[in-house]
Parts: sequence; C-alpha cells; structure tokens
Amino acid sequence: MKLSTSLELFDRAVNLIPGGVNSPVRACKSVGAEPLFIDRAEGCLIFDADGNRYIDYVGSWGPLILGHRHPAVVDAIKSVLERGISFGAPIDLEVRLAEMVIEAVPSVEMVRMVNSGTEATMSAVRLARGATQRDVVIKFDGCYHGHADTLLVAAGSGVATLGIPGSPGVPESIARHTLSLPYNDIDCIKQVMEQQGDAVACIIVEPIAGNMGLVTPEKDFLETLRMLADRHGAILIFDEVMTGFRVAYGGAQALFGVYPDLSCFGKIIGGGLPVGAYGGKRDLMSKVAPQGSVYQAGTLSGNPVAMAAGIATLEQLQKSGFYEALNQKSDQLLSGMERAAKKAAIPVQAKRVGSMLGFFFNEKEVKNFDDAKTCNLDRFSSFYNGLRQMGIYIAPSQFEVLFVSIAHDNEHLERTIEAAGEVLNKLE
Ligand SMILES: Cc1ncc(COP(=O)(O)O)c(C=O)c1O
Repeated sequence: MKLSTSLELFDRAVNLIPGGVNSPVRACKSVGAEPLFIDRAEGCLIFDADGNRYIDYVGSWGPLILGHRHPAVVDAIKSVLERGISFGAPIDLEVRLAEMVIEAVPSVEMVRMVNSGTEATMSAVRLARGATQRDVVIKFDGCYHGHADTLLVAAGSGVATLGIPGSPGVPESIARHTLSLPYNDIDCIKQVMEQQGDAVACIIVEPIAGNMGLVTPEKDFLETLRMLADRHGAILIFDEVMTGFRVAYGGAQALFGVYPDLSCFGKIIGGGLPVGAYGGKRDLMSKVAPQGSVYQAGTLSGNPVAMAAGIATLEQLQKSGFYEALNQKSDQLLSGMERAAKKAAIPVQAKRVGSMLGFFFNEKEVKNFDDAKTCNLDRFSSFYNGLRQMGIYIAPSQFEVLFVSIAHDNEHLERTIEAAGEVLNKLE
C-alpha cells in the first residue's frame, strides 16, 4: 500500500503542528503508525492522500451517523451559504435546532449552543457551580468530558492512549476540586456522597462510557447517581456528547429512563461541523447570561452553517425506521467480528449499544477503566494496523469505539468481517 503522500505531509506537519496533528489521538502513536492524511470521503468510504480507499468506522469520531457528505446535509450547507456564513446575531436556524433538541430530549427545557463538546461540559459545570454555590465536581475514571481543566483528571481516551496521567498545566488548586471515582462502583459513590455530598456541585458522567472503549452502566448505577444528587442538592450532568442522538434519538437517558438536570451534546448535533450544546431544566438554564449571571459566550456560537448541518442531520434521524436499520447493521458487524474472533481463538469482549461498538482484547468483561487497562494493547495495535492495510479504518486506540453509519451497506459490513477474520487469524 503506497502511503508516501501521507508520510510527506506528516513530515511537514510535525515541524509546524505539535505532534503533526490538531488533536492527539489522530497521531496514531500508540499503535506505532503514522496518521493517514485524508483527501476526500463519500458515504462510509474515506480516501487518503495516496488514493487508498478505506471503509470508515471513525465517522469523524462520532458526528457522521449519516456517513460522509450525506446529500441532505450538503444541500443544507450549500443553501445557507447563499444567506451568509456568520452573522454574530440571532438567526431562525438557532431557534429551529433548539426546538429539535428540546423535542428530542424531554429533560431539556432550554438549550444553549456552543462550538464543541468541551465547551458544552465546561459551561455545564460552571452553571452547576454557579447554581449550587459549591466547587466540588465528581466524575468517573475513564470518562472523557473534553479538555477543560476541571475535567481533565483520569480522563480516558486520548490521555490513556498516550499514557499521560493527568495533564501538566492543570493547576493543583483546580484539580483538587475534582474527584474521580471508579465507574460502576455504587458503594464508592455512596460513601463519597455521604462524606462530602453537601459540598458537591455536580456529578458528571458519560451515561454510556465511550472513551475507555465501550463500557455500559451496570444496573442501578445511573439511578443511584440520580438519587444521590437529589439527596444532596447536587446537579446531575449527563455528558451525551457521544451518545446523544447516537444510541437513540433521545440519547442514553431515553434508553435508560434516568433523567439528568443538565445534558451536554456535541458531535451529531453539528452534522460534522463544530457544534456543542448544553441544556436542562428551565430554572437552571435561566441562570445563564444574559437571563442570569453565569457567564458564557461565543463569537461563532449558533453560526448558520453549523446550525443548518445539525438540523438537516436530525431531520434524517427522525425518519421512521432509521435507528432500527442502523442497529441492525451494527449488530451484523459486531456479531460477525465476534464470530471471527472465536474462530481465531482470540478472546475478546464485544459489546454494542446502538451503533457504538466496543471490541476489547480482554478475557474478562470490562466494567470500568481499571478493567479496560488490562486489555492486550499489543494485540489491538496489530489488529488496527492489519485492518488498515486491508482498507478498514478504525480509531487507533483500544479506548475508542467503532461507529457504524447508515451509509454502511451489507457489502461493506461483510467485507469488514472478512478482513477482521483474516487479521485475527494472524494475531499472536
Ligand atoms: C463524551 C464526550 N464528551 C466531551 C467530548 C469533547 O468534545 P469535543 O472534542 O467536541 O470538544 C468528547 C469528545 O470526544 C466526548 O466523547
């Protein structure tokens, strides 16, 4: 496989951009590879700068639930460009997207658009602190909520992939207000809340964790968080940046029937453009400036192009049978890969919620970050590199999930299963 153009571009990039990339996991360092530079993409296919073709399960890290360049999204973007690119003033499209989010997610009565998932969670935490007049934030090991100082403690994914424990640059005086507890450990959170609950501003959680691989909440975990937050007057925040509109139109909260005070969104609601959002109960959201005094702002927030892409994406998701079709594709892929692993006698833990797929090289079930860290990372590296050589593009980290899009058809899925089988058979 010729990769010389990607390699040349990467050579130039490393002198100009830290690590040659604008977001760390893209560098492919942990799997001993160089990043592919992408030229173009269509549907579920992505083409690198050397013209190689791959079936894509990264989907821009989650937003592209419709696949690349879905015609409805492309048309919406083209048509809004006739009106303008950014006004820094309110537009009808912001109202429409807010209506759609509020209709989709019953716990959200008001919503504020921002430009990324990081901004959404950072702003939700600020609001929780402002509303409760408390400082302590509880999060869970292996959950990633973006890179705001408060939340970059035991933060899964990129940090875990690179083996960085926290991050230099986060002052101890800020990190000390954040407690990171083991995911799915009900006794631990109960104990901590008993001791310190009245100082806790918020509990923030990925209701289905997707940044330590795929880890699902065990029975009663989310319910316990809800109960403890209520008991101690803390705000419960669900970070649905990855799960929102992905695992169900109403997000993970719709699947589990547990409702937070604040929800954070990103990825899919921007249809591939930079959008995030946070929203929740009216009394809480009314505390955000200019209605209230908790300050948060953005030059490009709610910009027309991003709003148009988000609206067009959500309109497609509303079509009858969309999630059934997507889940069926996802099931076909995961069960095929699981069968292939069994045949090759490679122990894996394969899990799926909707179109988020986890494939751990582990003998035992992964219930938290400590379990995730016991995965066989050498096997994962070989699996990643083997698949890539066979034209299958997955995230270069064991701590990420695979995303299936509606653009993957039977042929793509079967080709992927076949390639996975070949690679798994060669693993040591
Ligand atoms: C659950 C979760 N929250 C927050 C973020 C941060 O979003 P962004 O990368 O848009 O800042 C991510 C990104 O992967 C995420 O998965």
